[in-house]
This record gives sequence, structure tokens and C-alpha cells, in this order.
Amino acid sequence: MKPVKHYLQFKDFTREEYEYLFERTRWIKDKFKRYEPYWPLQDRTLAMIFEKQSTRTRLSFEAGMHQLGGAAIYLNTRDTQLGRGEPVEDAAQVISRMVDLVMIRTFEQEIIERFAKHSRVPVINGLTNEYHPCQVLADIYTYIEHRGSIQGKTVAWIGDSNNVCNTWLQAAEVLDFNVHVSTPPGYEVEPERAGLYGTDHFESFADPMEAARGADLVTTDVWTSMGFEDEDEQRRRAFADWQVDAEMMRQAKPDALFMHCLPAHRGEEVAADVIDGPQSVVWDEAENRLHVQKALMEYLLLGRIAPA
Ligand code: CP
Ligand code: NVA
Repeated sequence: MKPVKHYLQFKDFTREEYEYLFERTRWIKDKFKRYEPYWPLQDRTLAMIFEKQSTRTRLSFEAGMHQLGGAAIYLNTRDTQLGRGEPVEDAAQVISRMVDLVMIRTFEQEIIERFAKHSRVPVINGLTNEYHPCQVLADIYTYIEHRGSIQGKTVAWIGDSNNVCNTWLQAAEVLDFNVHVSTPPGYEVEPERAGLYGTDHFESFADPMEAARGADLVTTDVWTSMGFEDEDEQRRRAFADWQVDAEMMRQAKPDALFMHCLPAHRGEEVAADVIDGPQSVVWDEAENRLHVQKALMEYLLLGRIAPA
């Protein structure tokens, strides 16, 4: 079987591939905004497997596939044999004989890696405990739309060293920017789990105000990610001083952007006047999931398209 190209973590693609994808996203988005039909994926089918909840990921993949002329099928653990212990390897063999592309949201990264190993078709990571590459793809595209290249810029990550944080750290290595991370004690970045090559592109700060100082972009996420609900009480106490508020935004550059992958908890990881304030680009960020993932699906299925 010829090797299949998957998108399981951010570092699966090179900087040059990202440059292509960002250009392609712009082209696809512009066309969509002009109401011009573009159906390169006619007769192609995407299977979406959800082992955790989702609003944005489901909607953006399902709508995106329809808008490209294809079809999308929603599967979850409860209604499939995956929930009754069918081995992931067997599911991968079967599902990948029936569709052209698979997107999975699951728990350990190891599960999606095993699925991909036995899949005949490309597999996309729609979030695992370790990574969320489609999110950071959209976030960086959003940064570029608002401010231009992210190369050499500083991103401040405030809060939990979770799947989105790990993905920002990988992206910094691939696209050559810096991440200032501040987490409470006990929740620090684990470079190996984050899948990093080194420590050149990130710096850790005990004080979140210090991490935000001079940043071009300030970003955060929930204190308790899906799958970690048992730790909720303990996390609320540990993260209380890690809220992105107006004072923290004032440490960053005056034109710094604020991002959050959503869903957000106002009054916990972010103050309402920040997420709803003028520096916040969270709605563009959410919308761009649709556009970047259309470029991603087109790339995985059709390869590079020469400019029109
Ligand atoms: N940001 C994100 O992935 O949202 P959902 O959990 O709603 O898909
Ligand atoms: N870190 C969050 C992101 C949700 C989109 C989680 O994994 O629940």
C-alpha cells in the first residue's frame, strides 16, 4: 500500500506546505464569499468520528465538505461499534474502504496514530488530548489576515499546557516564532509530550503578566479540557491567577490580538471585557476553521492545485 499523507499533528507539514495552505485558504475563502460554487471534491466522502463533544469542529468539517461538493458522515462512540470495543485497527480498515477521508476527535494521540496506521485514506486530527492542529492552523491564518506574517512574533500562552498549547509550541518551531508560556506550578509544558524538537522557540514564565509583556498575540483556553473533568475543582483553584484580563492585555503590545479556540468561560480563563473587547478576534478565528480545513481537505485529497 502506498504511504498515505495524514494530518495528525502540526509538525506533519513543513513550513512550505503551510505557506501553500495559507495561500490556498485565501483563494477558497474569497471564492466562497463571492458565492462562487467550487466543487473539487464531488463524489468524495468524509467520515467524522467523534469520541468527544464538538460544535465548531463538526460544523466546519461538515459544512466545508458540502461546500466543496462532497458528503460528510457523522459517527460517534455511542452509536458505533467503537463504543462496544471494536479494535481501532479493524475500524480503520473498514471505514477507510468506504470513504475518502477521515477526521477523528478522540482521547490519546496513540489512538489516532493506530487508526492512521491501518487506514487507506488520509486521517485528520480533529483534537486529541495532546494536540489540536486544525485549531492552530486557523489561528495562524487569522493572525496573518489581521497582521501579516507570524515569523519572529511573540505569542503569549496563558493557562493550561494542553492540546492547543502543545500545538502552538510545535507551530512555533515549524513557522519560526516564539511562545511565552505561563502555567500554574504543576501544569508546566512537557516538551516530550508536546512533540518538540528543542526549547529554542518557547520560554516559560512563572508570572503570567511577564509572559504577556510585549506579546503580539495573547491566547488562552479552558482550565479543564475534555476528558479531565474530574480535576475541575482542583484546577479552578490552581488557575485562579491565570485569567487573561484587561490588565494582562495592557502588558502586551498596544496592537496585540486576543484569541481563544472556544468554547470560553467568561470570568474564568478570560475576562468578559477582553474576549468581547476590541482586541479579540475570536469570531474570525472560529470562522476560519471552515476555510483552512477546506484547503486542508483539498490538499490531502487532490494535492497541490496550480494557481488559476
Ligand atoms: N475549538 C473547537 O475545536 O471547538 P469545538 O469543541 O466546538 O469543536
Ligand atoms: N483544550 C480544549 C479545547 C476544546 C476545543 C479541550 O480539549 O477540551
